[in-house]
Amino acid sequence: MNNTFSAFWVQENTDGKFISEVRELPLSRLPDNDVLIRVHYSSLNYKDALSASGNKGVTKNYPFVPGIDASGEVAEDRTSTFSKGEKVIVTGYDLGMNTFGGFGEYICVPKDWVVPLPEKLSLKTAMIYGTAGYTAAYGILRLQRELIEPGKHPVLVTGATGGVGSMAVYQLAKLGYEVIAATGKTDQAELLTALGATEVIHRDEVYPEKKSLLNKGRYHGVIETVGGKMLEALIPQMKPDGAIACCGNILGHELHTNVYPFILRGVSLLGIDSGITKMPLRLKVWDQIAGYENAFPESYYKIIELGELQKEIDRMLQGAQTGRVVIEHSANNRD
Ligand SMILES: NC(=O)c1ccc[n+]([C@@H]2O[C@H](COP(=O)([O-])OP(=O)(O)OC[C@H]3O[C@@H](n4cnc5c(N)ncnc54)[C@H](OP(=O)(O)O)[C@@H]3O)[C@@H](O)[C@H]2O)c1
Repeated sequence: MNNTFSAFWVQENTDGKFISEVRELPLSRLPDNDVLIRVHYSSLNYKDALSASGNKGVTKNYPFVPGIDASGEVAEDRTSTFSKGEKVIVTGYDLGMNTFGGFGEYICVPKDWVVPLPEKLSLKTAMIYGTAGYTAAYGILRLQRELIEPGKHPVLVTGATGGVGSMAVYQLAKLGYEVIAATGKTDQAELLTALGATEVIHRDEVYPEKKSLLNKGRYHGVIETVGGKMLEALIPQMKPDGAIACCGNILGHELHTNVYPFILRGVSLLGIDSGITKMPLRLKVWDQIAGYENAFPESYYKIIELGELQKEIDRMLQGAQTGRVVIEHSANNRD
């Protein structure tokens, strides 16, 4: 094992701007935790874009190595819970927030964060899913608990070309749901259809002509990744016993709504936090993911190296990203 590793390093300039570079770091720069993991793949999520651009709500201290997702092999485990070379996944918890993350060739994490790679998944496929796929799977599980069923209840997905949205479209379709994909990028309709969308609509169509306390009920189930006025518009448009899995804040963190959809239609607003899911549920969600037959359209994801990451982060912050970006630490995949 080398004593240094490559990492995507984000630091604050003297003029307060955040800049990134790929640099070599000593292994001793990693936090003193249980399990040292040689990272083969990571993936890009919205939270990483925030961390890489200096959002102190995500990352308090810089310089920092973002990356909330990692898959790789155990290099050392001082608790002997995992064997050397065992393939594992780490997503969420504090990884890539205030603990150096998967945009480095090594991470060092508490043993309780580590998930053994399910047999049917490769390290690469696990990161095509990553937190985005995990969040979508968790949201779908919550809708299922509210008896939103394939064949009976179509599901609307907002932010459909984004990481979580596109993953939701793919997984819902695999489970036999009719999927309505709402997007600002209708030029990506072909990709969304290839992922399994039954209908692709422009996101503006989601808003009612006139917002009321209760609008006409249009949706049984929603995977809602956008938040803000999009979520506000959807709550009064849910059908009786409808359910919204709410996971995003692209349009802001505030929510102005009223109680009538909840007390007159029994609507459920289901909160999704993929970062803190307890281990038994976490394993169940990964198990569900591993059960899909994985045949993503080729144009759905791209594999990049650390040096290409900044431009993909910029694209994501502009809302222009489509599908999934997977980071390969090719030096770790060479042997
Ligand atoms: N709660 C959790 O556990 C959890 C986990 C992962 C992510 N998240 C959150 O979920 C959200 C999505 O994450 P992501 O990784 O999927 O991000 P992403 O890949 O950047 O996707 C976001 C999508 O939102 C849509 N969008 C962008 N600007 C918009 C606007 N002005 N109005 C309406 N839609 C807009 C776009 O889709 P279209 O162009 O197709 O409309 C965009 O592709 C983020 O807020 C993220 O922080 C939460």
